Amino acid sequence: MSIETLAETAQAMIAPGKGILAIDESTSTISRRFEALGIASNEANRRAYRELLLTTPRLAEHVSGAILYDETIRQASRDGVPFARLMADAGILPGIKVDKGTQPLAGCPGELVTEGLDGLRPRLEEYYKLGARFAKWRAVISIGDGTPSGTCIDSNSHALARFAALCQEQGLVPVVEPEVLMDGTHDIEASYEVHEVVLRSLFDALYQHSVALEGTILKPSMVLPGADSGETATVEEVAEATLLCLKSTVPAILPGIVFLSGGQGDRAATAHLDAMNRMGPHPWTLSFSYGRAMQSAALKIWSQDLQGNVAKAQEAVFARARDNGQAALGRWVA
Ligand code: 13P
Repeated sequence: MSIETLAETAQAMIAPGKGILAIDESTSTISRRFEALGIASNEANRRAYRELLLTTPRLAEHVSGAILYDETIRQASRDGVPFARLMADAGILPGIKVDKGTQPLAGCPGELVTEGLDGLRPRLEEYYKLGARFAKWRAVISIGDGTPSGTCIDSNSHALARFAALCQEQGLVPVVEPEVLMDGTHDIEASYEVHEVVLRSLFDALYQHSVALEGTILKPSMVLPGADSGETATVEEVAEATLLCLKSTVPAILPGIVFLSGGQGDRAATAHLDAMNRMGPHPWTLSFSYGRAMQSAALKIWSQDLQGNVAKAQEAVFARARDNGQAALGRWVA
């Protein structure tokens, strides 16, 4: 696949005022979210919920693409239209999560490495045929006593780079997601330092694996104080720290950065993105690829009446898409 085609797809993913809807929860993750709200996690309910999200009226005004999971990309609407077709018809690019989750990293107690490289080439080939045009791989880095180790960071960067190179070979834009978790008691400076090391390691690995950055999207976490630190940071502090870190580590040729929400509240996720864009212009487009911060409100509404609340839940999805779309332009009105 030509770099030009990959770069065009990447540009479409970060079209002005648009971001990505992450609905790529694995079966175990969506089951946890469903069960917390009393929803039975069976295939029928998972399908119905993803149909609700993907058929939200006017979603494409603020959403350029959505990330699916293996089960979801094989599913279809109630009327029998495959989700990937339904999305393409609506002008929403289909994406796919292709990592197989994390496992403990041997030799590095308490640390994780993301698996899923074995057999990835034929899987990507199949996903492309099913309609996917971009793919995502998430690495998880946690901040603790003496962690993350350099070994954990470099192992995850190596896997991200191998994933990215394979994606480009198969015509898919890689979304590289090195998530530094906000769990922990660390302060915002520690978060900054870890983000800086992680991003340097990642871009070094991408370079070593000949990944074309103009056809790559970065999905990072924001620089935040640990959730249990007792520290609060203002919206401006988070925006400034995150921007400084990205400007120090991310080459300008990369077209776009789409943040994950990582457990931030809906308003915080929107406010931080909006503040960063108000501080622009920046070398890259800054937008969103939120999971929880796009879905939480809608899932709660739907859980109260799975048949009767579909339209209401879709209104909540649209409201979050509109707010985050405005924040992607630095024009959110709180
Ligand atoms: P959150 O926005 O809920 O962190 O999810 C984004 C995502 O895709 C995690 O891999």
